[in-house]
Amino acid sequence: MRFYLTTAIDYVNSRPHLGTAYEKITADVIARYKRLAGFETHFLMGNDEHSQNVYKRAVERGLEPHAYCDQMEREFRAVWSELDISFDDFIRTTEPRHKAAVHRLTQQCFDKGDIYEGEYEGWYCVSCEAFKQERDLVDGACPLHTTQTPEWIREKNYFFKLSKYRDAVLAHHQANPAFLQPEPRRNELLRLLEGGLEDISVSRAGQSWGIPLPFAPDNVVYVWFDALINYAAAVGYGTDPSRFETDWPADLHVVGKDITRFHAVVWPAMLMSAGMALPSQVFGHGWVNFSGQRMSKSLGTSLDPSDVARRFGPDPLRLYLVKEIAYGGDGDFTWERYEERYNVDLANNLGNLVSRLAAMADKYRAGQLPAAGGGGRLAQVAEAAVGRYRTSMDALALHEGAAAAFQIVDACNEFIAETAPWTLAKRESDAGRLDEVLFEVAEGLRIAAVLLRPIMPASSAEILRRVGDTTTVDALRLDRDSPWRGHDGRQIAKSAAMWPRVEESVKNDAIVAGATARPGRKKESSVQETPTGEPSVPAAPAAPAPAPAAAAAETGISFEQFMGVDLRVAKVLEAEAVPKSKKLLKLTVDAGTERRTIVAGIAGAYQPEELIGRTVVIVANLKPATLMGVESQGMVLAAGPDGQPPTLIACDESIPPGTRVR
Ligand code: MSP
Repeated sequence: MRFYLTTAIDYVNSRPHLGTAYEKITADVIARYKRLAGFETHFLMGNDEHSQNVYKRAVERGLEPHAYCDQMEREFRAVWSELDISFDDFIRTTEPRHKAAVHRLTQQCFDKGDIYEGEYEGWYCVSCEAFKQERDLVDGACPLHTTQTPEWIREKNYFFKLSKYRDAVLAHHQANPAFLQPEPRRNELLRLLEGGLEDISVSRAGQSWGIPLPFAPDNVVYVWFDALINYAAAVGYGTDPSRFETDWPADLHVVGKDITRFHAVVWPAMLMSAGMALPSQVFGHGWVNFSGQRMSKSLGTSLDPSDVARRFGPDPLRLYLVKEIAYGGDGDFTWERYEERYNVDLANNLGNLVSRLAAMADKYRAGQLPAAGGGGRLAQVAEAAVGRYRTSMDALALHEGAAAAFQIVDACNEFIAETAPWTLAKRESDAGRLDEVLFEVAEGLRIAAVLLRPIMPASSAEILRRVGDTTTVDALRLDRDSPWRGHDGRQIAKSAAMWPRVEESVKNDAIVAGATARPGRKKESSVQETPTGEPSVPAAPAAPAPAPAAAAAETGISFEQFMGVDLRVAKVLEAEAVPKSKKLLKLTVDAGTERRTIVAGIAGAYQPEELIGRTVVIVANLKPATLMGVESQGMVLAAGPDGQPPTLIACDESIPPGTRVR
């Protein structure tokens, strides 16, 4: 069973940012999952070097473009290594193997009569490296690169007959619903194809940085036509026919949603023209934003993945990106949320489980757990979770795969709370039950670690070591290693906490370019632990993942979720009516470290002057909103029966402004 997957190749005009890293991390999770599932996997990544912006950046740095690209390759590889990305091959578009493939494919299309000479006149966005229609522009600018005015170009170009392949490409999509996923991407593309296609330029005139067209060497191949060919070049197209014969087509191209059109329309048409097989699937993932802003190198709002990986190591970052973002949809990274999830998923939940098991095994059984069969409730939970994990990962619902692994972790923690091993340890007659409980927890944790291997490779290996699994992690296989094993004893290793809880929180905008840093604030630990893992407060051993509102109403929210709402004491300094509003008052409050304007719907209950000097409670981390033309930077807590104006929630006047409500 073979599986060949690729990511987009990156422009090297600047270092990777968290968005480009997201793609590589998720593709790496897929590659590692396929290996775990027993596929002979080939995972390709690379750099896209023939871009005008790359050329410009080299010139700005006073370097010859190739030397600049060499330098960037080292930087990219270093970042991918920091993130534990396990690619098997890394291609650069300046390599001879790639040039040979580009020559061959363009020549094939030309010989087929699908490339002709013409004149292009229109807009070109250098950052997208794409020709733009007037209707694509917003106020004359590219919607993705608002700081850069598109260029008006008029030049002799070679064109590819994309229009000729419209029917065939559309038919391919219709006959193969899995060809482009997820569904929203597929629907967008079907609409585009139904609207018809125009021929596209495949060359640029008057440029030296690029691959010359074999049949017209004064022109270089348009960077997108050039770049797409990397996927075939890497498996021998144009250089090693026998390898190409066995290794092509690709099973999966993982790319961002902005470039799915190139992969699901232009690339299939190129392959059809050249008489080559089409890849099995293109997956267009969503965007990762940073604190709600589009991450962009050109807008200066990007986040360096190395900085994030340095905070807690690569695995917590990988877990966050995979578990918190529904794969295919958009997601957001904020430092606060990242730390919160780290504490919830890793420090309090998985990490706590590893430590508690080790502490209990050490204290009650000197680290040696005899085989105790099993097949109880935990075994059933694990078996069902493995099934959900496989189905989800096969369908590229990576977030659901991660959630399935954590269902086992949650179940282990619940099992400890229910069985209370520290109580069993007190009575000799419960010794057999204690053996079973400890063994089952160790086995549940082992299976969770196997499932987490693609997402958190190093942590999974460490957990397996600690629960006494002697399999070499590279040899792990789902079929063999995910079923429950009840018949071998375990040596449990006791070591330091894998993910100590973090206390300091970094504010998001400290990292956004140009924004001022705000001081961090203290967070407090909700669960204290004794060395055996016995909770010293009657809290659940681990905080559950945040549930949707309906589920939260049923099960309650965790302490972490409550602490996610920043409630603070504030003092009203000024109050005035909001013009033309019967309900709203504009308050200026002292929130401890700063003054804030807050618009409150309490005009029916108070005259503005009565409020001055009142101590109130505010929601300090609510997104600012503009009400009747006034920007409100928070919310004041108030309550009242239906139909009556709300009155303020009382607060002791002696509490100083800025104090956190907890
Ligand atoms: N060089 C082209 C791809 C050619 S593939 C034959 C390119 N390069 S890029 O450096 O701009 O982007 C590389 C990948 O990162 C693309 O798949 C792009 O969609 C993805 N992302 C760029 N910013 C992103 C986010 N903020 N979030 C998620 N993915 C993002 O396009």
